[in-house]
Amino acid sequence: MKKDIHILAIESSCDETAASVVKNGREILSNVVLSQIDIHRLYGGVVPEIASHNHIECIDKVVQKALSDCNFTLQNIDAVAVTYGAGLVGALLVGVSFAKGLCQASNLPLIAVNHIEGHICANYLTYPDLQPPYLCLLVSGGHTAIVKVVDYDKYDVLCSTVDDACGEAFDKVARVLGLPYPGGPQIDKLAKEGKPTFPFHSVVVSNGNFSYSGLKTAVINTVHNATQKGVEISKADVACSFTKSAIDGLVDRLWQELNKTNLKTVAIAGGVSANSYLRSRVQEFEQKGIRVCMPQLSLCGDNAAMIASRGYFMFQEGQFADLSLNAQPTLKLRGEKPRR
Ligand code: KG4
Ligand code: ZN
Repeated sequence: MKKDIHILAIESSCDETAASVVKNGREILSNVVLSQIDIHRLYGGVVPEIASHNHIECIDKVVQKALSDCNFTLQNIDAVAVTYGAGLVGALLVGVSFAKGLCQASNLPLIAVNHIEGHICANYLTYPDLQPPYLCLLVSGGHTAIVKVVDYDKYDVLCSTVDDACGEAFDKVARVLGLPYPGGPQIDKLAKEGKPTFPFHSVVVSNGNFSYSGLKTAVINTVHNATQKGVEISKADVACSFTKSAIDGLVDRLWQELNKTNLKTVAIAGGVSANSYLRSRVQEFEQKGIRVCMPQLSLCGDNAAMIASRGYFMFQEGQFADLSLNAQPTLKLRGEKPRR
């Protein structure tokens, strides 16, 4: 019988300190996420120094809890996976240093995981039978792309944003509407109460990539103009119109790429994959005979279970790091082409 592989993963790329134990890349045995959102909300966004400091304060307890929640010790673990990029360098360094220390002390192999590849793997935890190839719409605070997942380790980026990421635009629009950080979930909630009365333009640009900076500026100008003229505008309508413009173009491009590639399975990943309008739009593909995969809501945002899943597939390929591993604030997907 094949031996079960248990990966302990650590994630600290932004404002969540997380650790998880996952069996065979698909089954979550424990998943601890300690969010710092309440602290950063006071400042209207993530303060890098405060994020690093808080990771340092709690990383040992979070890792200990991930082990004790499944009655494990390090002796039950086959490898330690850690997010080494992309993200805030100081925050990443806390997880990377801690993972290196664990590996040094316990003689376990170290696996260096790309955060974005981790987001895609959240789907393997929600759908244990999901296998490549499939198309994945990746929408987070730092990335927006349609990726062909050719194999567990091979990605083909078909199109991506030329400026801001989708989640970044959600956060900036939320800020101009006076909503608290993080803005994405707030806009999601408010949009349900509004109508798409503002004719904001699409995010798809002429070469098929995405641009969010124009849409973001259009929304900001609309709100500022109204404020200057003393005209009251419906924030719910702005949220609804913005959401429609931010998402419809992505979904249309996703459909085009599905047709071009002839793939019959589509997945979404990243923080914005929690958006209810996006989920309902992508769900519509099921009526056209497409299998639609969406991570369960608790796995859309940053977590270590997705890092453990990615780590498992790297373990299978013998892709190990050594103790010279360093944090990488910017990191492309394996095989990602430079922007056109
Ligand atoms: O993947 P993630 O947790 O962190 C990165 O890797 O960037 O994504 C965070 C982003 C934030 O911009 C946040 O506002 C957005 O995901 N987000 C949402 C929703 N939930 C989180 N955006 C729209 N609707 C949501 N429900
Ligand atoms: Zn993320």
